Amino acid sequence: MAMILGIESTCDETAAAVVADGVDVRSSVIATQFELHEIYRGVVPEIASRAHIENIVPVIHQALDEAHCRLADIGAIAVAQRPGLIGSLLIGVTAAKTLAWSLEKPLLGVDHVQAHLYSVVLRGKGEGAARVEGEGVRRKVESSLTPYACPLTPHLPAIGLVCSGGHTALYLIKSWSDVTLIGATIDDAIGEAYDKVAGILGLGYPGGPAIDQLAPSGNPKAIAFPRSRLDRDSLDFSFSGLKTSVLYHVRGHKGRERDPGSVSQAELHDICASFQQACIDILLIKLGRAVERFGARSVIVGGGVSANRGLRAALTDWQRPAYFPRMEYCTDNAAMIAGFGHILLDQGITGDLSMDAVTSSRIRRIDAVD
Ligand code: KG4
Ligand code: ZN
Repeated sequence: MAMILGIESTCDETAAAVVADGVDVRSSVIATQFELHEIYRGVVPEIASRAHIENIVPVIHQALDEAHCRLADIGAIAVAQRPGLIGSLLIGVTAAKTLAWSLEKPLLGVDHVQAHLYSVVLRGKGEGAARVEGEGVRRKVESSLTPYACPLTPHLPAIGLVCSGGHTALYLIKSWSDVTLIGATIDDAIGEAYDKVAGILGLGYPGGPAIDQLAPSGNPKAIAFPRSRLDRDSLDFSFSGLKTSVLYHVRGHKGRERDPGSVSQAELHDICASFQQACIDILLIKLGRAVERFGARSVIVGGGVSANRGLRAALTDWQRPAYFPRMEYCTDNAAMIAGFGHILLDQGITGDLSMDAVTSSRIRRIDAVD
C-alpha cells in the first residue's frame, strides 16, 4: 500500500492530506484564509503567502495525526507545483522538497488543474473500499448530490471541465496522464464572476456558495442575462459580459441609475437564479459541443464551482454520465494532490531538489500538440 502525503498551497488555502493507493483518503486538512481576503473581495498574493508560512507546518502535523500515521509511514511526498500564485506555490514546494530530502522519499510535482479533474475518484474519509462496490453502477448519493459513483477509470475519452475561481477550461481526457486543453476562458473565470456578482449584490466573499443558496428561491427566467457563445464552433468561454450585465441591472444605466440598496429580497433571489441559470447554460452549451466533437463517453467536472447544486442537478441525466467530486473535494484540497501523486509515482515521474514552482499549467492546448 502506497501512502502519499499531499501538500497544496497554490492560492489561498493551505492544505495537507494523506491518501492511500491514490483514492482512499485517510485525512484531508484545509486551513482557509477567507477572513484575511474578505475585505478585499479577492485574494491578495502577499497576504496569502504569509498565511501559508504560518499554516503549513501545523496543517501537515494535523494531516498526519488524523491519518494516524508518522512521517516514516509515508511513501512519497506530492505537492501542487503549478499553476498558481508564485509566492504561495513556493511555500508548499519548499516544504515538500524539505520533507522528501530529509526522509529520502520520492518527490512528486502535481499539476493542480489535473488534480481537480482527478478528484472525482477520491473516496470519502473512512469510506475505504466501500465505494468500489458501486463502480460503474448508477446510484444516487443524496448527501453529495453525485449522480454517479465514479469508477476509478471513468468511461474514456471524457471531457473534463475545471470551473473554479482561477480556471474555467475544457479538456480532452484520454487517460489520467493524457490530458489536453481544448477550450478556456478568454476573460474571467466562472468562480471569479460568481465572486464579483456576489460583491455587487453585497453577499460577501467567496460568493459562489451564497448565490447557489439563494438561487433556488428565485425565478431563473426573470432576467434574460446574456449567454456568451463566442464563435459558432468555439469551445472557449467568456464571463465578463455576463458580470457587467448584472452590474448594470443592479445599478441601472447612465442617467437612470438606481440605489443598489433598493433591490428587494424577491428581486435579489431572481437575480441570483437568473445569473446562475446563465452560467449553467453557458457551461452546458460548451460541454455539449465538446462531447459531440470528440465523441466523449463521459464528463468529469472539478474545481470550486463543481460544488454548485444547480450545475450538479443540470448534469444529472444529461447526454453522458457526469462525474463530480464529493463536496469536500470540489474546492482546493490536498487529497486530490496526493491522489494524483499516486499516478505519477506509478509512472516513475518523480522530481528532485531542482523542482521549481511554476505559475502556468503543464497541460497544453490541443492545437499546440503535434
Ligand atoms: O477550486 P477553488 O477552491 O479555487 C481555485 O482553484 O480557484 O474554487 C473557488 C471558487 C470561488 O470562486 C467560489 O466562489 C466558487 O469556487 N464556489 C462556488 C460554489 N462553491 C465554491 N461557485 C458556485 N457555487 C458553489 N456552490
Ligand atoms: Zn483550484
